[in-house]
Amino acid sequence: MKIAVLPGDGIGTEIVAEAVRVLDVLDLQFEMESALVGGAAYEAHGHPLPDATLKLAKEADAVLFGAVGDWKYDKLDRPLRPEQAILGLRKNLGLFANFRPAICYEQLVGASSLKPELIAGLDILIIRELTGDIYFGQPRGKRVATDGHFPGAEEAFDTMRYSKPEIERIARVAFEAARKRSKRVTSVDKANVLETFQFWKDVVTEVHKDYPDVELDHMYVDNAAMQLVKAPKKFDVVVTGNMFGDILSDEAAMLTGSIGMLPSASLNSNKQGLYEPSHGSAPDIAGQGVANPLATILSAAMMLRFSLDQAEAADRIESAVKSVLASGLRTADIWSEGTTKVGTREMGDAVVAAITKKTITG
Ligand code: IPM
Ligand code: MG
Repeated sequence: MKIAVLPGDGIGTEIVAEAVRVLDVLDLQFEMESALVGGAAYEAHGHPLPDATLKLAKEADAVLFGAVGDWKYDKLDRPLRPEQAILGLRKNLGLFANFRPAICYEQLVGASSLKPELIAGLDILIIRELTGDIYFGQPRGKRVATDGHFPGAEEAFDTMRYSKPEIERIARVAFEAARKRSKRVTSVDKANVLETFQFWKDVVTEVHKDYPDVELDHMYVDNAAMQLVKAPKKFDVVVTGNMFGDILSDEAAMLTGSIGMLPSASLNSNKQGLYEPSHGSAPDIAGQGVANPLATILSAAMMLRFSLDQAEAADRIESAVKSVLASGLRTADIWSEGTTKVGTREMGDAVVAAITKKTITG
């Protein structure tokens, strides 16, 4: 088994280093190989996703990814911006199924901006379609308008589109995932306005016939955004398109108050996956050793479970993280009165120690 390690930019390098230490201490049989991606790759090779990095990722069983991006690259031509690396990996590896859990850890209930009773015990799984929709739809570009409100004016356009098989496969992923949880799926659309999402709704409804044991409901995206802050615990599995999923998953993550804790997985149909924290590269705190490595460490656990058939090792990481939180250690983002503030490295040390201790004491 081979893992491609792509730390990327900003805090990416610091947090991935801790996840790699955690993987090392588990002493499993796999090889890890690192490569540059994002702004770091642009600086070194003139491209955010160099051929060698893409090749490594394609050949690996799994990719452990940090984060990409920095304001200093905002002025580059779009194809050279760091974000293109992650979009290119999704497209080239066919990573269509994005799992974004939003879990509120018991010890961190106070970190949310919502009232504790609204989010205590929160456990939502957002399943975002990741290789279609307006993100990848062609045609797109700039042109001179020939119709619309201002014919003759400069305009830009993108194309929102979904094919039936694209919707079918992500719907199946959601129904299968729901079977392992509380058997409820909410499909989020904008069927009241958009053809694409009326079709989405129809196809999801059709696929649902194969999953009569799972409850399905449909919700418009604006209402879903509202319900997420009003009564988030009403949701279980949420399935939606690429753009709505981008927006709603950030909202859901922030409900927990600790985006620094949330892992994510992006899978293709061969179980090959890219695993990354849900937060970004946070250039404002990069290099200071204060970033929370737990989302990346938990992403490594997801990787062991989903792509590398090492569920037991994944359990060991997750229970180590819980025991570290229970012992009161917190990075700055989740710190509160009465807990102990630690840096990135110390948090990694604590997880490694918790794993080693459990190994010794059984
Ligand atoms: C995400 C990010 C990406 C997206 C960006 C970095 C391209 O926001 O993974 O949610 O929009 O998908
Ligand atoms: Mg996003």
